[in-house]
Amino acid sequence: MTLRLEPDSHLLVLTGAGISAESGVPTFRDAGGLWEGYRFEEVASPTAFVRDPLLVWRFYSMRRAGMRGIVPNAAHHALVEVERRLGDRFLLVTQNVDGLHRAAGSERLVEMHGNLMRSRCSRCDRPAFEDTTAYAPGVAPMCGRCKQAGYDGLLRPDIVWFGEAIPHDAMERTEAFMQRAGAHLRFLAVGTSGMVYPAAGFVNVARTLGGRSFLVNKEAPDNIAAFDEVALGAAAHLLPTFFVHA
Ligand SMILES: NC(=O)c1ccc[n+]([C@@H]2O[C@H](COP(=O)([O-])OP(=O)(O)OC[C@H]3O[C@@H](n4cnc5c(N)ncnc54)[C@H](O)[C@@H]3O)[C@@H](O)[C@H]2O)c1
Ligand SMILES: [Zn+2]
Repeated sequence: MTLRLEPDSHLLVLTGAGISAESGVPTFRDAGGLWEGYRFEEVASPTAFVRDPLLVWRFYSMRRAGMRGIVPNAAHHALVEVERRLGDRFLLVTQNVDGLHRAAGSERLVEMHGNLMRSRCSRCDRPAFEDTTAYAPGVAPMCGRCKQAGYDGLLRPDIVWFGEAIPHDAMERTEAFMQRAGAHLRFLAVGTSGMVYPAAGFVNVARTLGGRSFLVNKEAPDNIAAFDEVALGAAAHLLPTFFVHA
């Protein structure tokens, strides 16, 4: 299966954990939905951070350490190549926090769930900053900048946790792109079940606008009928030959 791009096609790509699987980053499902016996919701939520910041930092420090030596795969590179062809008629929206799209060279990129290699203060509004540190167990880093107000804020990973809202500008940029594309919209979901918001929403918008939707995924999702075309298989295998330019 291929996705044919006409000179006026606008391509919106949404990626999930599956696109990084072949780089060696486990999907939550690969891990059985658990980390050291905790459900991910128990370590990746604002409530968990209030209850036990040390546990949350141990989880993210492990994920940071786990990224050492991990590089983008052929699927990430294929998306860079198609972006070079389409320019502003391309937008990549990722649910991943691993930074592999940027490492591959993607530029028109919305990281809607944040980035594992950035931290921000849980208390003051200093901008998020690059932080690749895997903190030792028992260490929860402090802000330092908001100390003068009486007590220092805990740093937290710059990640959108379960129960938190996707940043407004991320959604706005994506919606503006879809509206601009209209019936020329081609929506492709890669390595994500496509069943949950926002992926499920994008598919419906594509239909409403008169565009077309595609899914590249290892397994067939329950909502397979929502997509116009589905290619089942590994993203790194399928994407390099997926795009055909008219
Ligand atoms: N790399 C990362 O940054 C990372 C890793 C784990 C989870 N997360 C995030 O956590 C949330 C839930 O994660 P999840 O793992 O349940 O994700 P998910 O719901 O996005 O599921 C992963 C999907 O990828 C598919 N898949 C697995 N290997 C694939 C491959 N090689 N090629 C194509 N498709 C493949 C699976 O069939 C599954 O449908 C998402 O926001 C996800 O992006 C991010
Ligand atoms: Zn602060």
